[in-house]
Amino acid sequence: MPHRAPGSPGHHASNYLSGKTITYYRPRGSADVRDLIDGGFQAFNAGRLSEACHIFADKMLAPEHDTTIGLTVAGALTPAGLGGCVIELIDRGMVDFIVSTGANLYHDLHYALNFTLHRGSPFLDDVDLYEQGIIRIYDVLFPANVLLETDRYIRDFLVRSGMSGPVSSSELHYRLGLDLLERYPGCAEYSVVASAAQAGMPIYTSSPGDSSIGMNIAYHELMNGSTLMVDPNKDVNEVCAIILAGKKNGCVILGGGSPKNFYLQGQPTLWEVYGIPKGGNDYFIQITTDQVVWGGLSGATPAEAVSWGKVNPAVLPDTCVAYCDSTIAFPLFCEYAVGAEHNRRPRKELVHKREALVADLLRQARDAGRTPAAAVDPGPGAGEIDRHR
Ligand SMILES: NC(=O)c1ccc[n+]([C@@H]2O[C@H](COP(=O)([O-])OP(=O)(O)OC[C@H]3O[C@@H](n4cnc5c(N)ncnc54)[C@H](O)[C@@H]3O)[C@@H](O)[C@H]2O)c1
Repeated sequence: MPHRAPGSPGHHASNYLSGKTITYYRPRGSADVRDLIDGGFQAFNAGRLSEACHIFADKMLAPEHDTTIGLTVAGALTPAGLGGCVIELIDRGMVDFIVSTGANLYHDLHYALNFTLHRGSPFLDDVDLYEQGIIRIYDVLFPANVLLETDRYIRDFLVRSGMSGPVSSSELHYRLGLDLLERYPGCAEYSVVASAAQAGMPIYTSSPGDSSIGMNIAYHELMNGSTLMVDPNKDVNEVCAIILAGKKNGCVILGGGSPKNFYLQGQPTLWEVYGIPKGGNDYFIQITTDQVVWGGLSGATPAEAVSWGKVNPAVLPDTCVAYCDSTIAFPLFCEYAVGAEHNRRPRKELVHKREALVADLLRQARDAGRTPAAAVDPGPGAGEIDRHR
C-alpha cells in the first residue's frame, strides 16, 4: 500500500460518522450515584472506589487540611469525553494542578475548536477507515481533517504567541489556553486547557515530545527557526515547588504512565536531590487497570511508594487503588465529589505563583545545605578534543 495520509480520492466518509457526537459530560452531584456508591459499592473494586470517593470528599477536600491536589491523566480520556469531569473539578477548585499526557491535551483542543468526535464501534475495518480518512481511538471516530486542522491551529498559535527559548509546559499550556479563550469565547465550558487557563491552574505534561503538540513544536523549530522548547527541568522544579508549598499533598491518578511518576517523583526530588524532607504524600488515589505483578511503575501500589519516600508511611489508610476502567470510575468519582459537603474550594491559582514558589524552593534548598557541585573537572586532555578535529 503506498504511503499517504489517511483518506484517498473518491472515498467518502460514509456512515462511520453517523454515531452520536461525543460531548464533555459535566457531573452534577447526583444523589442517586452517591447512594449507589455509599450503599451498593461494598466490596472488591466497587468497595475500593467507594473508599477512594471518601478519601477525596471527606479528607482531601476538607478545608482544614488545605490539601494541594494533583490530578494525573493518562489513557485516552479526553477523546472519550471525560474532559467535562476534569473541567468541573477545576471550576470548583477541587484540583490544584494537572499532569497529563500530551495526547489528552491535544485531543481536548478538538473540542475547543468545535470539531466533532463521534461514538462508534471498536469492531470496524481499519483498512476501510484508512481509505475513508477516518481516525479510530478504540470506538471513538473522527475525520483525519480534525487532526490536520488542530495541528494548523497549534502551529498558528506558536507563531502568534511569539514564545521563544525554554519554557515550562505549564507556561505553554497557559498561553495556549489564553489564546483559545480569546479566539473561541466561551470555550472554557468545553476545553480543559482553556478552563485551566481561565482558572489560573497549571497543566504539566510529562513527555512533551510524545504528542501532536510536541510534534508541532518540533515543526516550529525546524521550519520557522524557532528557539521555543519545553524545558523539563522547569517542570520538575515547578511541580516540586508546588508540592513543597502544600500544607498537605494528595493525588488522584487516572491510569498510570509517565504522568503518575512525574507527580510522585516530586517528593523524592525534595528529599533525595534538594535535601528537603517533606514526608511524602498524605493522600494517594489511583484508578487504573494496571497490575502490580509486572513490576512497572503504572501498577505500583502506594505501599511500594512508601519505600521511595513518595507516600507518607503514617498515612497508608488514606491511600487507595481501585482497579477499574477510568472511563467508568472517574465520572462516578466526580459525581460523588460534586455532591459532597466540601464541593467547592478557593482556587489556588498556582499559575500566577510559580515563580515565587520556585524561588522559595531555591531558598529552602540553600538553607538545607545542598551546595551546588563544583564545575565538573573535564580531566586531563579533555580540552584537546577541539584541537584534534
Ligand atoms: N495524537 C497524539 O498526540 C497522541 C495520541 C496517543 C498517544 N500519544 C502519546 O502516547 C503516550 C501514551 O499515552 P496513553 O495515554 O495512551 O498512555 P498509556 O497507554 O501509557 O497509558 C497509561 C496507563 O494508563 C492505563 N490506562 C489507560 N487507559 C485506562 C483506562 N481507561 N482506565 C484505567 N487505566 C487506563 C494503562 O494501563 C497505562 O498503564 C503519551 O505520551 C501520549 O501523549 C499521543
